[in-house]
Amino acid sequence: MMKMFITLFFLCHAASAVKHSLKWITTGISGKTNLPEFVVTASMDNVDLWHCDSTKRELEPKQEWTRKLFKFRPELLQFHLQRCLFNQQFFKAHMDVFKQRLNQTEGSHILQRIGGCEWDDESDEVKGFEQYGYDGEDFISLDLKTGTWVAPKTQAAVIKHSWDADKERIKYIQQIFMSWFPKFLKDYMPYRRSFLQRTERPSVSFLQKTPSSPVCCHATGFYPDRADLFWRKDGEEIHEGVEKGQILPNHDGTFQMSSELNVSLIKHEDWRRYDCVFQLSGLTEDIVSMLDKTQIQTNWDGLEKEESSSGGSRASQEEFSLAENS
Ligand SMILES: *[C@@H]1O[C@H](CO)[C@@H](O)[C@H](O)[C@H]1NC(C)=O
Ligand SMILES: *[C@@H]1O[C@H](CO)[C@@H](O)[C@H](O)[C@H]1NC(C)=O
Repeated sequence: MMKMFITLFFLCHAASAVKHSLKWITTGISGKTNLPEFVVTASMDNVDLWHCDSTKRELEPKQEWTRKLFKFRPELLQFHLQRCLFNQQFFKAHMDVFKQRLNQTEGSHILQRIGGCEWDDESDEVKGFEQYGYDGEDFISLDLKTGTWVAPKTQAAVIKHSWDADKERIKYIQQIFMSWFPKFLKDYMPYRRSFLQRTERPSVSFLQKTPSSPVCCHATGFYPDRADLFWRKDGEEIHEGVEKGQILPNHDGTFQMSSELNVSLIKHEDWRRYDCVFQLSGLTEDIVSMLDKTQIQTNWDGLEKEESSSGGSRASQEEFSLAENS
């Protein structure tokens, strides 16, 4: 019954209208640094799609589905790579203008531009944006509706004046973010969707910091982020002494989640009456792990087992001696 409810809930969730975004973040660095002079990161709904930088001069997909997209549609890869490299020349020119206007002859400076669009998939409304930041502060942005540059800082006034006069460029930027970008975004959707329909099972483990700490049931590596993790006693879900964590993203696009159980009042012989249950949308069977002392990964193990060969234990041993010394 529980599972049925969850599945329906997830379907409702997936069907609701959402705003999607596609952004290009361009960063230019002047002066002597170890960083590439120029980096572009494209992101969709705040997840990186690909990178391109001045040292590699290639487009590096950051998601499995963008890798596939570029494989099946090499013309898209070529197009974006050309745009990325083309952008670089413009950016260098902008950087020189900014430095000149601000009387900066040396030192390292950072110019960043965020350009893109937001699209509401229900109303089909599109909002475009282009903003420049210089040395970490908002500097100048284009109001795409009125086609005028907005400069909150007085130092940017001269730049605003000359950029406002360039009507051709403003029209071009409006075209890119109001027309091209929404097209790209809609074009990407089916590729991402087919990829998002996958399910990945997590690994579930028990962790405990000290003998008196709660036991943490930790599931990591699952996909999608519609999941639940809870504790049961004799097969019934319990809430007392339980602290449930949020679903958090991993770097590889999967997710993790944990739930803690306060075991301080549980008698040794009662431990096996408890289990931790993980449920994932798209996965028909639950992953059930019985609470078992021998299966708990602990931090204090390293202290007991001298000369342990495991790196993890040695690390925790160091942690403990550090804690003792401070
Ligand atoms: C830049 O330097 C010139 C000449 O030294 C000076 O006239 C001008 O006011 C300076 N501009 C800024 C923004 O500091
Ligand atoms: C666990 O439960 C005991 C007894 O109710 C309580 O004293 C202790 O503070 C709890 N520990 C945590 C970490 O909540």
